[in-house]
Amino acid sequence: MSESNNKDKLIILGGSPLIGEVEISGAKNSAVAIIPAAILVEGKCVIDNIPNISDVAGMLKILTTLGADVKHINSSTVEIDCSKMSQHSAPYDIVRKMRASSYLMGALLGRFNRSSVAMPGGCDFGVRPVDQHIKGFETLGATVNIEHGMIDIYADELVGTNIYMDVVSVGATINLILAAARAQGTTIIENAAKEPHVVDVANFLTAMGANIVGAGTDVIKVKGVPQLGGGTYSIIPDQIEAGTYMIMAAATAGDVLVKNVIPKHLESITAKLLEAGVTVEEFDDSIRVTSNGKFNKINVKTLPYPGFPTDLQPQILTLLTLAEGTSIVTEGVWDNRFRYVDELIRMGANVMVDGKVAVVEGVKRLSGSPVAATDLRAGAAMLIAALAAHGVTEIHDLTHIDRGYENFEQKLKALGAQITRRNGSRKKKRTG
Ligand code: UD1
Repeated sequence: MSESNNKDKLIILGGSPLIGEVEISGAKNSAVAIIPAAILVEGKCVIDNIPNISDVAGMLKILTTLGADVKHINSSTVEIDCSKMSQHSAPYDIVRKMRASSYLMGALLGRFNRSSVAMPGGCDFGVRPVDQHIKGFETLGATVNIEHGMIDIYADELVGTNIYMDVVSVGATINLILAAARAQGTTIIENAAKEPHVVDVANFLTAMGANIVGAGTDVIKVKGVPQLGGGTYSIIPDQIEAGTYMIMAAATAGDVLVKNVIPKHLESITAKLLEAGVTVEEFDDSIRVTSNGKFNKINVKTLPYPGFPTDLQPQILTLLTLAEGTSIVTEGVWDNRFRYVDELIRMGANVMVDGKVAVVEGVKRLSGSPVAATDLRAGAAMLIAALAAHGVTEIHDLTHIDRGYENFEQKLKALGAQITRRNGSRKKKRTG
């Protein structure tokens, strides 16, 4: 992917409706879990529909550093062979910035019965604990020590058992599937997360020879197998990227066919857009969104799947800044996910935040201004605001958007957006 640095900025002239078709890429949150899941596989895994984004490049680099053989077959297909991997330690300098590096814990533990991984980083929207991951590993018979910023996990043998999760966690559910895939006996994960990418990881492992049933429900049974061989697998389309383009089409009074999607994964977004007065038509693997730019107020509460995804909360809230009347947006997953609202206020939005609730009073229009993409999905919200606003918006801190949206400038340009990237100046190294 094109290299960005934090000084790059986007210049967007708002006000043009997005019109045309957009192809959705493979799911980021699946890819960043399936790539470390390949550690469990002793054989070649060919993974298709991999999105070309910096988080994926980062995860592939981590695997290479750990001793995996990674080959790029084409821009969306990689072959990963971890059969010769022997390293179980992933220190801070290789995993920093990537929240998904926590999947290395389950994958390395499942493969080597031990792992040593630096505490994960990632988007900052409140405390991001890993207590449920740790509780699960311990229930499987592992000993966990946290020292000097590293989580060290060790087991003589992982033994399948019943694990009840106190909170519904995508990361912990996937990590426990990874740790249990090659454990002795059967692990039953209760109160499991049901997100599409949890199912995708389970399907990937099943394609490699694992025995997993129930993914997509709140009880997942993993019967450990001694070894996983190679195979091929194609990642599902990105639910959040698709939802982002759907909301963009609505916010710009556009008409967009969002292609290569699984409409079932988008039901909560479709329902909320319909409620807001947007026209949404579902086809087998595409969704068409048309809007006249007028929206009703609606209330949205984010919840684990199949609820409205927290990763689309900044985007839907941005749309509601232009609705008629007062909408309430409640964040039901993270403690502190409204930091981006200050940027929208800079553009003329009228939003009041109190803890996990935002009161959004619709305004007639947003006006372009300089704003920062404070995290990945906040960056997507800034894109929506900029495309809908009058005048020119400059979006700074693009590295966040580049982490998760493949070719977003090209995709937006093809839909008629007036968008240009200005490369930030890189300081030249001076010697002598
Ligand atoms: C994943 C997504 C992220 C999304 C989130 C919720 C990836 C790479 N990231 O993050 O984009 O916003 O799901 O859909 O897939 N929790 C605990 N203890 C734990 C783990 C989590 O209390 O051990 C809490 C968290 O603080 C949070 C909630 O559970 O309030 C959900 O977190 P979780 O589902 O684990 O999010 P991630 O897997 O980190």
